[in-house]
Amino acid sequence: MSNLSTQSYKGTRDYYPEEKRLQNYIFNIWRQVVEGFGYEEYGTPLLEPLELYTAKSGEELAGEQTYTFEDRGGRQVAIRPEMTPSISRMVAAKRQELSMPARLYSIANFMRYERPQRGREREFWQLNADLFGIEGPAADAEIIELSHAAIMKFGAKQDMFKVRVNNRALVEQLMTHFLGLDVIGSPMMTRLLDRKDKIPPEVFREQAIEIFGPQAAEGLPKLAKLINTHSLNELPEQVQNTPAMYDVMQVLELLKQKGITNAEFDVTLMRGLDYYTGTVFEFFDTSPENNRALFGGGRYDGLVGLFGVEPIATVGVGMGATTMQNFLEVHGLLPQLVSRTDVYIIAIDHTATAGADALARSLRKAGVRAELDITERKIDKQIKTASKKQIPFVAFVGGEELESGIYTVKNLIESTEQKADIDRMVTIVKDHRYDGDEDAVFEV
Ligand code: HAM
Repeated sequence: MSNLSTQSYKGTRDYYPEEKRLQNYIFNIWRQVVEGFGYEEYGTPLLEPLELYTAKSGEELAGEQTYTFEDRGGRQVAIRPEMTPSISRMVAAKRQELSMPARLYSIANFMRYERPQRGREREFWQLNADLFGIEGPAADAEIIELSHAAIMKFGAKQDMFKVRVNNRALVEQLMTHFLGLDVIGSPMMTRLLDRKDKIPPEVFREQAIEIFGPQAAEGLPKLAKLINTHSLNELPEQVQNTPAMYDVMQVLELLKQKGITNAEFDVTLMRGLDYYTGTVFEFFDTSPENNRALFGGGRYDGLVGLFGVEPIATVGVGMGATTMQNFLEVHGLLPQLVSRTDVYIIAIDHTATAGADALARSLRKAGVRAELDITERKIDKQIKTASKKQIPFVAFVGGEELESGIYTVKNLIESTEQKADIDRMVTIVKDHRYDGDEDAVFEV
């Protein structure tokens, strides 16, 4: 029999401590930012009934990308490919009890059957932040502001990315009143525009001709005009002065007031999911090395109502950890991350073993994360282990140290050494967590 493969399932990743450290760094910053806006954490099951996604997520996500199976009881279930339908279900179930507006967030993993490529995996992690119970541009602007704050908190500058804003109601009016499409053609064109940058121009044209049918001759130049529209006042007269257009204007105005200078109207931004009803937005990396969408979201006022309760106005964002990581890498914003273990304790010889054990206990009592080497290997081997694990400090314990109560403490990151008693040692290592109680970050 051949050996079992050590590879993880296609499109998924194993997270060894080093990768998990990086992921946690991203999660911690997200958490700090969304909690700073008053969002509260929730959780949902990994499995959901398949129909939850077929109802409104759209054909691509529900039909082609969702992992589905029949459970032993004959139910069609799906591994969650996104959070939005689950959180809508939860809110609908407690429609009366929940105090509105509800600001909710989660950090969870999802699976989609996609072709793995840069920034696209089959298992990925997302921050979801959604605001339930407020209609109108102020809520949309808050979600965009929060997303903006999340990326800035990593040290980004506003010229490193762009926020593109559009509105689904506006898109619908453009499809029907300007392009002359009907209820079948309009969503087809919306989906085609969503894929515009992913397909060759000839294919885009061919498919557009197909959607327009006999009206292709008049439709194509209008479509070209639309794609080349870069500001709200260039929009065709059919949509000028409509509520949808004012909505976009107000969102952009509010963002400006909040100090966001890199947001702009983009009539070609669609967002792939069917449930959006108003504002849609996407954050894009401006680096030529990573010119792609980072994350996005929008308003979806119709989902909660699908569960048989009175609808609730909702807007939210889904932020991927992998696209965030790629962004941070490309812009040199990833800090050097070290282990959360503060100190590695080494007994100089076997007579000091019990003393080293006692030191570890005292340090832990004082809130220090202390790992004790109990292998009795050569000291240089032990130091090497600490260094490989990226533990910032090593404390040496020998007869002399036990007698005096003064230990040699070595900072492996900065190559410095000092003598300290237990109290001082506690202060030294805690001060060097650099980032409060979060994952230790070293600015070197
Ligand atoms: P989405 O655009 O499908 O929206 O995904 C949002 C983000 O999740 C993406 O921009 C990306 O950062 C990340 N993401 C999605 N798929 C993958 C993948 N295969 N590999 C890695 N990262 C991925 C939604 O999911 C909406 N439910 C977001 C939302 C929340 N809208 C309102 N509230």
